[in-house]
Amino acid sequence: MIVLGIETSCDETGIGIVRDGKSVMANLVVSSLKIHSKYGGVIPEIASRLQLESIGRVYSAAIKEAGIKTEDIDLIAVTKGPGLPGSLLVGVSFAKALALSLGKPILGVNHVYSHIYANILCHRNIKLPSVALVVSGGHTSLFYVKDFSDIRVLGQTRDDACGEAFDKVAKIMGLGYPGGPLIEKLARDGNKNKIKFACSGTQEELDFSFSGIKTAVWYYLKNNRQKIKSGNASLAASFQESVINVLIKKSLLACRRKNAKRLLIGGGVAANSCLRQKLLSSARSEGIDCFFPTISLCMDNAAMVSGLAYFLYKQGARDSLYLNTELNN
Ligand code: KG4
Ligand code: ZN
Repeated sequence: MIVLGIETSCDETGIGIVRDGKSVMANLVVSSLKIHSKYGGVIPEIASRLQLESIGRVYSAAIKEAGIKTEDIDLIAVTKGPGLPGSLLVGVSFAKALALSLGKPILGVNHVYSHIYANILCHRNIKLPSVALVVSGGHTSLFYVKDFSDIRVLGQTRDDACGEAFDKVAKIMGLGYPGGPLIEKLARDGNKNKIKFACSGTQEELDFSFSGIKTAVWYYLKNNRQKIKSGNASLAASFQESVINVLIKKSLLACRRKNAKRLLIGGGVAANSCLRQKLLSSARSEGIDCFFPTISLCMDNAAMVSGLAYFLYKQGARDSLYLNTELNN
């Protein structure tokens, strides 16, 4: 079964073509990030206008790369939310137009759950149930995944998302946007134990809070202007270390509570190599198998949309041309 997926939840325009929920035939993503970087964040109106301009071309290129004909497509899948309203609308409208003109079924999927599914595209032997951590620019949540049609929230951020904290700290430090990769790069030359930052506590142990640490970095910079010139790398490393430690602590706590022996990670922050290394080894020492997607599948892409839709369609999920965006789910 060939599923064509569409992903336009933020700044990117992605078309992915996946056979039988596993083998990726094409996975193209174009991003308008460069245009947004001068504003220090994604400007929704610019993102959706550029998606409207590019989606037709990305679609044609993906069909060509997969070496299929349009009649070979069995299902049109699309991210219905959460995400930016205008951007989601471009993807959902394009999906409906395709489904109508090609006479194919359509299915909308949840963007956050598709980040978890990215692991299934990369690893052959993942068994469920499992605990999952999604860490992206818009979300930080722990889930219990019984299967992909039964996913329950165990904890989530009370304020900023983890990637958002990386982006804001990078902005405070004058590094640019998006902040995650820039902080990771700078942190390589720093001493992660130099400054003690702590993420705020939360009433529910599996919830997260990242707005306090962002403010702590801001005050640190304000009060230590002289030291900063030479110590920028240590500031980045210390911030990154505190965030990573909290992600690891809560993920492993969730596994213990659910007696889960598998942990799936997804979302843009999962591309962070320090998080990958440290979480893999901490999980291993507790007898937990920890999985990350390959770097390109950590970022927003449409192959993960196709994969998740395949699974749900097989389970009987269906949508109609009345499908609409779901901004907050
Ligand atoms: O999943 P994603 O591509 O888009 C959303 O759904 O939000 O995640 C983007 C986020 C950004 O906040 C970016 O700074 C962060 O992922 N990110 C990273 C790294 N690469 C991307 N954060 C930390 N370390 C990285 N290497
Ligand atoms: Zn995402």
